Amino acid sequence: MNKGCMIVCDGGNGAGKSTVLKSIAQHLQAQGCDLVITREPGGTPIGEKIRDILLSTDCSEMCDVTELMLFAAARAQHVREKIIPAIKLGQVVISDRFDSATVSFQHFARGLPLDLIKMLNEIAIDGFKPNITIILDLDPATGLERVGSRGSQLDRMEKENLEFLRNARKGYLEQAKDDPDHFVVIDASQPLEDVIAEAVKVVDQVVYG
Ligand SMILES: Nc1ncnc2c1ncn2[C@@H]1O[C@H](COP(=O)(O)OP(=O)(O)O)[C@@H](O)[C@H]1O
Ligand SMILES: [Mg+2]
Repeated sequence: MNKGCMIVCDGGNGAGKSTVLKSIAQHLQAQGCDLVITREPGGTPIGEKIRDILLSTDCSEMCDVTELMLFAAARAQHVREKIIPAIKLGQVVISDRFDSATVSFQHFARGLPLDLIKMLNEIAIDGFKPNITIILDLDPATGLERVGSRGSQLDRMEKENLEFLRNARKGYLEQAKDDPDHFVVIDASQPLEDVIAEAVKVVDQVVYG
């Protein structure tokens, strides 16, 4: 049996996070892996309620600091109620987004101070760290085209302008450069099967390596 661990898939909208995570989950489940599939913001009943507020287009008046604290609040609940207990049971947790998204969006894109974000992230995750964060890297304009062809409505964060999304992208690449032991960047402009193959290789290394 493998030890508990956590794998995060993060990156811009339309980069392929949900699609790639589904393939990763199928790959691990086929090998009998005990899996917990989750997402941020959300992942718990309380977190999903916070997600509704964060992503609702009705909440366009939301202040940057309110947004930051709501993400952190949802994460605090997620870590304590779901992630840590699963890892203690030896399960493999795979999450669509995690703390890296807050650094990218709330610091690099919104411009809130990095110290404040790091402090709130630390409170939320209480010393915990995912084993690996896979960044799917894609030009946001391509991401938006993909989201458009997915046919779903854009949420409050997806409605931000291209410059905001480009700054968030820079934020992901910067985090990966600063912490190569915990981040892997995959070029998400490649054909989907190539992106999945690279992601599966990374995941196997973490779970079985
Ligand atoms: N590498 C890829 N090449 C082309 N289309 C892709 C690729 N990865 C994902 N897609 C498509 O782009 C759309 C957005 O993917 P999705 O997984 O929902 O992105 P995200 O969860 O990152 O927002 C989907 O329709 C998906 O099939
Ligand atoms: Mg998605």
